[in-house]
Amino acid sequence: MRIGVLTSGGDAPGMNAALRTVALVGLARGHRVLGVRRGYEGLLDADATELELGSLDGIARLGGTILGSARSTRFPTAEGQALARARVAELGLEALVVIGGNGSLAGAHALAAGRPCAVVGLPASIDNDIGHTGLAIGVDTAVNTIVEACDRISDTARAHRRAFIVEVMGRHCGFLAMRAGIAAEADAILYREGDDATEDALVERCFAALKQCFRPGRTKMRALILKSEGVRVPTSALTMRLQERLDVELPGIDVRETVLGHVVRGGSPSALDRVMAQRLAFAAVRGCEKGLHDVMLGWDVPDDHGEPTGDPHVRIVPIADVLAESAQLLDGASPVVQRRLALLAQVQDIIAL
Ligand code: F6P
Repeated sequence: MRIGVLTSGGDAPGMNAALRTVALVGLARGHRVLGVRRGYEGLLDADATELELGSLDGIARLGGTILGSARSTRFPTAEGQALARARVAELGLEALVVIGGNGSLAGAHALAAGRPCAVVGLPASIDNDIGHTGLAIGVDTAVNTIVEACDRISDTARAHRRAFIVEVMGRHCGFLAMRAGIAAEADAILYREGDDATEDALVERCFAALKQCFRPGRTKMRALILKSEGVRVPTSALTMRLQERLDVELPGIDVRETVLGHVVRGGSPSALDRVMAQRLAFAAVRGCEKGLHDVMLGWDVPDDHGEPTGDPHVRIVPIADVLAESAQLLDGASPVVQRRLALLAQVQDIIAL
């Protein structure tokens, strides 16, 4: 077979490990593997390169993606789709493995509808906002990066007995703030899911946590608030309002802000991300051989959704189902989000102690 592989959307640590395995397994099983550069943009330009063993050595440890990535605006249009189908034929692709997040999987689903070749998706996005996968490629590394950054911030915070608000990525999904917040001993975690709090209410909530941390007689030396990017109140406004409150009610306590931004998306992937990426990619190549089409391989798929593979952690899910579940994850209706919120509600009062 001639198998194409591309990485698309926001890059995620582990993408290289995934594409390396697609190529390695493909070559080992007698296929030709083409790496398409710059995601769907590269596909539209027929910008592809033959992947060979020599170019794959040592890339599993690299962050980003050696193929490059893009958020294509041309691809979703009717003209873009027609051109993409023509390019698939031109490149002689019989299967295409798409590694990316919800936007990329929606693109894969649209392309699959025209059946120019078999289309198989792999979930990769640090946000963990993709349906029917317990984890997406990149999430574990991102959480570890945030925890390490918070530990460093905590060192300097303790030296000055300060409070910090640390904002982390997650445009529509607070998972990174939630998980890293627990691991980094945050005193409060702010996320958008199920929470329409006004600026005043958020200031009040943060202030209550800080009052608890720095109340008279307490020797606690730092307070940490993890805030998800998706929270509608800007971090700078929250910090300023909080400082005004502190100056009056807890004089001497300063609050600082750090926006981690793209720092969280880079870096060498964790062992878990590398292993996960490789096992998903292995199943993707085997799936292409078996004629799988318009599906995603999910990791620890909740609720036993989808079809099993030879790997107990990996299941096959139709991309249509993935996208439907992703929509529910983003609007908070998904049982997965409800479970996350219920767990956090149980510990909310404890973490500020
Ligand atoms: O990959 C998803 C994401 O990391 C979001 O959390 C974030 O808002 C967005 O990407 C940033 O994207 P860009 O790099 O295109 O600004």
